[in-house]
This record gives sequence, structure tokens and C-alpha cells, in this order.
Amino acid sequence: MKRSEINDILLRGDEFIRSFGYVMPPFAYWSPDEMRARKTDIQPLIDGMFGWDITDYGAGKFDEMGLFLFTTRNGRQEDLKRGGGMCYAEKIMISRKDQLSPMHSHWLKAEDIINRGGATLAIQLYGSAEDGAFDETAGGTVYCDGIRRDFAPGEVLKFAPGESVTLMPGDWHAFWGEGGDVLIGEVSTVNDDNTDNWFREPIGRFADIDEDVDPVHLLASDYARLL
Ligand SMILES: [Fe+2]
Repeated sequence: MKRSEINDILLRGDEFIRSFGYVMPPFAYWSPDEMRARKTDIQPLIDGMFGWDITDYGAGKFDEMGLFLFTTRNGRQEDLKRGGGMCYAEKIMISRKDQLSPMHSHWLKAEDIINRGGATLAIQLYGSAEDGAFDETAGGTVYCDGIRRDFAPGEVLKFAPGESVTLMPGDWHAFWGEGGDVLIGEVSTVNDDNTDNWFREPIGRFADIDEDVDPVHLLASDYARLL
């Protein structure tokens, strides 16, 4: 993706989020220079990859396959290992109309995916083989706002604003906006997008970026290279 395209998606996404009365944390609006100047004070933010995350999964067709995310908080892997403390994470996301987040599962992370407003959120689900791998013949069970829901292999569940689903490791899922763009919340186990995404197809998690202009704000995936 061109950086100019990412900047544009970021600013439009911010506008969409604000239209629901959701306000991002102040660090969302720091410039790259401001972030560099504060680097020593914000190590948990950098290590946890808080912040902007705009991805086309490396495929170069953002309108068809992509996702807008912002990680507002992320816990500590060491707390998760010892079984107490900051074991949680939170994101706000936008799925555009018919924009696919491709089929994947997580080894470690359980996540509640929440329709926070806008159009309908469509989520396609499959269960998994015994080792957790994708199995096109497997259905399963999820809980939607605490209510049991059995699903057939490949069934598409629809979520109106306010509704949510809890996805456990081994619940394979793909999602998109239906009928319009959707604001999506995610509340999850500590998140590591470098290691904990298992895609059905061999695709990337982050965009390859062509730096045609300067970034308005850094993406979390920029921190290792640009901070
Ligand atoms: Fe997921």
C-alpha cells in the first residue's frame, strides 16, 4: 500500500469512529516526531504495539480484503504466563461494506467481537480439527452475548449494533460489513499480532508500504523500523 493511501484511510477512519461518539486516546494523534521524543516513557505502548494498524494483508486490494484497527490497550505476555494481572487487550476496528477480513484462527487469544455501530457485521465460522487446524467439515459452538449458538460448517452469523460473539482459539472466522461499514470492538486476551494469527491461506498480517509521502501517524507495525 502507498503511505498516502494509508494516511487517507487513517483520517477517514478517525472521522467514522468519531461519528459514533467514540474518542480515541491522546497518543493516537501524536506525530512521528512526538512519538520519537517520548520513546523512553512509552515502552509498554511500543512493546504492546498499541495504536494504528491498517492492513491489506499484503495483497494490495484494501477495498476487497483489509481491515482498519486501532489497539487502545494491550496487556503483558509475562502476566499471561503467570496467570494473573494485565491479561487483556482492546481494539476498535472498521470493516467496510463487503471488505473481507480473511479466514483465520488464533492459537492463544480468545476474543469478543462486538458490533459497536453502523451496518450489520457478518462473521463466517468453521470449527477445527483436533490439532486446531482449519476443517471445512467442522461446525462448532460459540456464545453470543452469553447465549449458546451452535453453528454448521461455514455458517454466516449476523450481528446488529450492540450484539457480540465470543470466539475461542480453534473457532475459525472471517468477517465483513454487510449493507454498509461497521464499527467493531474487540475485547480479548493479550494480543500478539506477530505470532498469534493462523490464516487459512498463506497471506501476511501487515501491509507492505511504499513510502511515497511521510506518515501522518505511525502504524504499530512501523515502530520497529521508524522509532
Ligand atoms: Fe480474529
